[in-house]
Amino acid sequence: MAAELSPIDQAKFAAARRSVDFVESGMKLGLGTGSTAAWMVRCLAERVREDGLQVTCVSTSSWTADLARGLGLPVVGLDEVKWLDLTIDGADEFDANLNLIKGGGAALLQEKIVATASDRMIVIADAAKEVAQLGAFPLPVEVIPFGWQTTKALIEETLYSLDVMSREVSLRLVNGDPLRTDEGHYLLDLSLRRIGNPRQLALVLNQIPGVVENGLFIDICDVVVIGHGDGRVTVRDINSGRVETGSVDLTESRNIFADLE
Ligand code: A5P
Repeated sequence: MAAELSPIDQAKFAAARRSVDFVESGMKLGLGTGSTAAWMVRCLAERVREDGLQVTCVSTSSWTADLARGLGLPVVGLDEVKWLDLTIDGADEFDANLNLIKGGGAALLQEKIVATASDRMIVIADAAKEVAQLGAFPLPVEVIPFGWQTTKALIEETLYSLDVMSREVSLRLVNGDPLRTDEGHYLLDLSLRRIGNPRQLALVLNQIPGVVENGLFIDICDVVVIGHGDGRVTVRDINSGRVETGSVDLTESRNIFADLE
């Protein structure tokens, strides 16, 4: 089965597999959302099954909660535990400072709350997610449905005073209808192409009435685990400056692939 995965899925799997080495028994964990995070949840479930690890999980979306519970992981609400030891999540883009764009999977609000409530956040990503400057991936912004077109116009107006290369804003649709997030909000995707000052943009967007949260994660991520299609993995810690390289043996993970058959 491992051999049937595309190189990009092998890269995501490799990053996910390495990331669960950071999990210790007794930890309270934040589980991210997206295809890379889904691999991580499967790898975590395998460690719980095979190594007898005891963990308490908080999910960043209903989708991940269903996946985790289906694999036997205990999932509780954030308010039950209030603070987490570690969150592991994917990203749409990350830069050299480990600032991120997230929200491609529509879960940015819960993802940001959970990551912020964690002692440590690890991002898992395939190597293609690394960028010199954020912005090629459209920036998701979660907005209140009431008056969303006014909010969109205010965002467009605000973008004219900011250092971005393009200023197209579109409502995210699913089958022709506005996508609703887990919190019942809409998402606007901002095609900016290049974000000159992500910190400023993140602050300014959140000042606009109607904006709930934006997908820029600034100074939240501590470690990135970068996977490659051949199983190589690089771990970069922004706080210590340490970089480690290694590789993941896909043949050792037959149980996880069997879960998908
Ligand atoms: C979910 O809202 C996102 O933040 C995801 O973490 C991000 O889109 C990465 O997803 P993939 O792992 O599927 O690329």
